[in-house]
Amino acid sequence: MRVVIAGGHGKIALLLEHLLAGRGDQAVGLIRNPAQAADVRQAGAEAVVCDLEAASAGDVAALLSGAAAVVFAAGAGPGSGAARKDSVDRGASVLMAGAAERAGVRRFVQISSMGAGQPPRPGRDEVWAAYITAKTAAEDDLRSRDLDWTILRPGHLTDAPAAGRIRLAAPPVPAGSVPRADVAAVIAALLDEPGTRHQTLELTGGDSPIAAAVRSIS
Ligand SMILES: NC(=O)c1ccc[n+]([C@@H]2O[C@H](COP(=O)([O-])OP(=O)(O)OC[C@H]3O[C@@H](n4cnc5c(N)ncnc54)[C@H](OP(=O)(O)O)[C@@H]3O)[C@@H](O)[C@H]2O)c1
Repeated sequence: MRVVIAGGHGKIALLLEHLLAGRGDQAVGLIRNPAQAADVRQAGAEAVVCDLEAASAGDVAALLSGAAAVVFAAGAGPGSGAARKDSVDRGASVLMAGAAERAGVRRFVQISSMGAGQPPRPGRDEVWAAYITAKTAAEDDLRSRDLDWTILRPGHLTDAPAAGRIRLAAPPVPAGSVPRADVAAVIAALLDEPGTRHQTLELTGGDSPIAAAVRSIS
């Protein structure tokens, strides 16, 4: 299966590319900085340069030709301001979803965040509010489309080694953290379970083995 990953040099994206390559899938990582291509190839994926804040839906749709699925793993990242939360966390997701519709690629897994889907908690800073607003708008956009989407909202991400055990359920899941390696493994499993389409799922560390957790909600 050919899987196009938006934000192909992200920490989760690189882990996912490695997993997909290991099971014989063809991963394609979209990056904006050509210097990152070597890392993406090292992870076992094809690297394609595409700045998701500059590309058109037509440009991206052309890149999706022959793909079976899209994973949105991009994000403006720490240190970015409110404007880039909107242009990446919302805008790039909207761009990818529109391009997927145009290209006829139905399966779309979006990495969102716990906290999305409700107004930003009072007392948090303006950039956090912009982030949650952008993630919520990206989710709403995706739900409105004729795609086989799954929205995955991880809790706080860590770089700890994979634990292999998670809590995955419809909201609300109590706040918690989860290793990026487990998020990548959950996405790989979701791609194999079309029965998880049209679901919004929250994810933290937990007690359930990943395959069983994904099967149980599909
Ligand atoms: N941090 C948390 O605790 C947390 C919790 C829940 C959910 N999340 C979400 O989880 C997702 C993945 O997290 P992560 O840690 O793997 O993210 P990450 O390492 O920050 O990766 C994000 C990637 O998006 C890319 N990107 C940014 N702007 C782009 C553009 N215009 N065109 C193409 N690519 C672009 C970045 O590339 P550059 O190197 O070029 O900037 C980067 O490789 C993000 O959406 C994040 O918001 C995070």
